Amino acid sequence: VKTQLLIPAAGLGVRLGAEGPKALVPLAGKPMLAHTLERFRPLGLIPAAIVLIAPEHRALFETALDAAFPGMALRLVPGGAERQESVANGLAALDADTEIVVIHDAARPFVATASIQASIEAAAEFGAATVAIPSVDTILEGDADAFLTATPDRTRLWACQTPQTFRTEVIREAHRRARADGFLGTDDASLVRRIGGPVKLVHGTRLNMKLTTPDDRRLAELIAGGQFV
Ligand code: C5P
Repeated sequence: VKTQLLIPAAGLGVRLGAEGPKALVPLAGKPMLAHTLERFRPLGLIPAAIVLIAPEHRALFETALDAAFPGMALRLVPGGAERQESVANGLAALDADTEIVVIHDAARPFVATASIQASIEAAAEFGAATVAIPSVDTILEGDADAFLTATPDRTRLWACQTPQTFRTEVIREAHRRARADGFLGTDDASLVRRIGGPVKLVHGTRLNMKLTTPDDRRLAELIAGGQFV
């Protein structure tokens, strides 16, 4: 089954405390994106990967990827102003015979290859899957003035991660309908669910965190450098 990887990497590193693209922030001497892509190597998904980037950063990404993956011409496709637009551009750039698409944020460099594999299997069976972890924290809903409004039952809550993996026609239809309805989501699985499609939840790991803040970056530096295992 032909499977292709899409990596949204068009975000900026503002919250992380970095200048330029967050995906190129170095961790243990290598750009974050190179660490992320390495997790897909055992599945053979690097060569046909499509990386969504801010167009003004193309030269930076070309240089970084040539150094990390010499001879592999990864495709760089312009992303959009929102993550959902970036993914839509990636879906439009897939090879015509791709049956399964794996969408994984550049900002999650420590995904377990076993989680990726499990998401691919679940997507083949159910049409859509997302990696997620049962919430260890009690999640609070608050109002605009930071007063507690509700405490949802934790046993039913999961924290969303990526990869999110889909049969190609399922995610294309979900994006088409979201665009038609003017719906903007923060992930792709929610677009499938809102039009009634099943989405299987696949267990991820705590290490598959999204690097967002300067603290995350310092922790990631230790993990990438092998000082944390
Ligand atoms: O902003 P956030 O951390 O949720 O972004 C998640 C992923 O989506 C990151 O890898 C980021 O580079 C990507 N992104 C994108 N296009 C945007 C915004 C974010 O590809 N316009």
